[in-house]
Amino acid sequence: MDVPRQILDADPAFRADVLAGLAAPIPAIPARWLYDRRGSELFEAITDLPEYYLTRTERGLLERHSPDVARIVGKGDAVVEFGSGSSAKTPILLRAVEPSAYVPIDISGEFLRDSAADLQEGFDGLPIYPIEADFMQPVALPREVAALSKLGFFPGSTIGNLVARTAVDLLRTMKETLGVGAWLLIGMDRIKDPELLIRAYDDAAGVTAEFNLNLLHRINAELDGTVPVDAFRHRAIWNDRMSRIEMHLEAQRDVEFTVSGTPFSFRTGSTIHTENSHKYGMRDARLLLRAAGWGVAHEWTDEADQFALILAEAEAPRFAP
Ligand code: AVJ
Repeated sequence: MDVPRQILDADPAFRADVLAGLAAPIPAIPARWLYDRRGSELFEAITDLPEYYLTRTERGLLERHSPDVARIVGKGDAVVEFGSGSSAKTPILLRAVEPSAYVPIDISGEFLRDSAADLQEGFDGLPIYPIEADFMQPVALPREVAALSKLGFFPGSTIGNLVARTAVDLLRTMKETLGVGAWLLIGMDRIKDPELLIRAYDDAAGVTAEFNLNLLHRINAELDGTVPVDAFRHRAIWNDRMSRIEMHLEAQRDVEFTVSGTPFSFRTGSTIHTENSHKYGMRDARLLLRAAGWGVAHEWTDEADQFALILAEAEAPRFAP
């Protein structure tokens, strides 16, 4: 009865991840928890920032090369989008491919139905089969698309959130979901000048900082936390050995707080690791895909080679020498 309501409503997985993550030898909280309603709004704002070249560049590549994709894979496939989100990029691909069906898969059912409804307005008569599921596990596609060939779509450099081992697991799972003969169109961010990368993840307007710090507000609101948010600052660092941008929350002074009654303390300068964003050179990208059974059929990049749009084909099992 004395338990605050928000505690009863909190996602038990969120609490478990936060409590375990804050107690870990290298404190870290899985990046997926950045994307509550406010976090998703802030991420949308990030995609419009002048420093955040990713979204703009990928959209340009899709506008330019979706017709090439359609030429290679053929028209009328079923397009299966992983983590459909609010994707503004999808219509560009769909207009070129003229799919027979569109299957958006997302873990958030609410988000999924909203964006499916939005998309339907622009594509009269296109059968849309939204699936609420975690695509890290194999997903059973609707019977209606069983006979169609599949084009998986995984834009946005979302694959970059995962460390290599998990990324390969996911790519292999996607192959399983899509089946033999499938294609995958995937966006990957390139390795580039660390200064440019850091600016993309630590923008002048402070939107990315707000996005990162929002996690602490969320912990306070949903897990009955007492985190002094103003004691932390956003840090974006380039980890060259791991080829990734890391987001951290760095304590600016010694702090003590509780989360759901559990005490934690952080020393000045210590951090909570909140997100990875891996970057891939051309050969890195090919190797990652190949490790999961995908062969690169074609890749398109912008003039400055900032971002890559990669079309891969599910490889048939074969005897290797
Ligand atoms: C949504 C994971 C692709 O890593 O670039 C942007 C998230 N984090 N700015 C990325 C993000 C900070 C974004 N992804």
